Amino acid sequence: MNNPTPRETILSLFSQTPDGFVSGEHISSKLGISRTAVWKHIRNLRQAGYEIEAIPSRGYQLLHSPDVLMPESIQAGLDCQRVASRVLCFDETDSTNLQACRLGDEGGDDGLVVIADRQRSGKGRMGRRWESPGGVNLYASILLRPPVLPFEAPKLTFLSAVAVCRAITSCTGLRPTVKWPNDILLNGAKVAGLLNEMSSETDQVHYVVLGIGVNLNMRADQFPSDLRYPATSLAIATGQPVSRLDFTRTLLQKLDALYQVYLEQGSEPIMSAWTELCDLTGKLVQVDCNDVQIEGTMTGLAEDGALLVRTKTGKIESIYAGDVRLA
Ligand code: BTN
Repeated sequence: MNNPTPRETILSLFSQTPDGFVSGEHISSKLGISRTAVWKHIRNLRQAGYEIEAIPSRGYQLLHSPDVLMPESIQAGLDCQRVASRVLCFDETDSTNLQACRLGDEGGDDGLVVIADRQRSGKGRMGRRWESPGGVNLYASILLRPPVLPFEAPKLTFLSAVAVCRAITSCTGLRPTVKWPNDILLNGAKVAGLLNEMSSETDQVHYVVLGIGVNLNMRADQFPSDLRYPATSLAIATGQPVSRLDFTRTLLQKLDALYQVYLEQGSEPIMSAWTELCDLTGKLVQVDCNDVQIEGTMTGLAEDGALLVRTKTGKIESIYAGDVRLA
């Protein structure tokens, strides 16, 4: 991990004290800087939206943190083994997936997380666009270097799907469902999308990027009018705003725990967890695969992650790409 910045150190000191008070003296000795320099950092934090009170003889108290996504507030006290080894937050970027791939090409570490407040060219599946306005949602890409063969890596999509569902339930109590291959739904409306990308050669994965977009506080009027599917956000579904910081931290913890399971036990437990979250199993579905449409009963997932559909003739089709809906 990189050395923490003074701002990161100060915020993590606040998170470590039971009463929320940290003395100026303690900060100055931790950072090896003067009390005047400490005061300047506190002033900068206040300007960034942190509400910090100064009480004579007790020190500084953090009363409120802004709901902006910053590495120091995301990482403070996070209990992860691999995911979030480093976190980068941008006000704006083209696409966090593109950023993470560039960093992956440059040797970025396993567990690196790239987050942006807004994306100019958010990437969706099949060359589609992912609407990415600022200040409301989560756009994150996680760079992983799993020691697996290239054919195994696409199954990591199921890992992100299960992690997103668990984070949604933990933060809101809602019970989302998954739709193959990479949609997260609330009452049939899409609340999150996943786009994994990989760099590999025949027998080696260089890296995988898990791209995750979750509609947290997006309002109905912020969705594009030409969406091909019904969409929602956690705030629309619950009627309450969701803390982007809490959600991001929860999601990274869930991803980390599942990645540990994946590395120790393989993809089977992850795929079973995904199957439990899927309510289309046993139902009649229609799958649009480019120009071909396949209709039949969804029977589950193949070992390699393909969608299995039993057609009217009784033949089981393995589908590797397409859009699924109830027939
Ligand atoms: C989909 O079409 O459902 C996938 C959408 C994936 C969007 C996320 S937002 C963070 C990451 N960066 C991108 O450009 N795309 C993914």
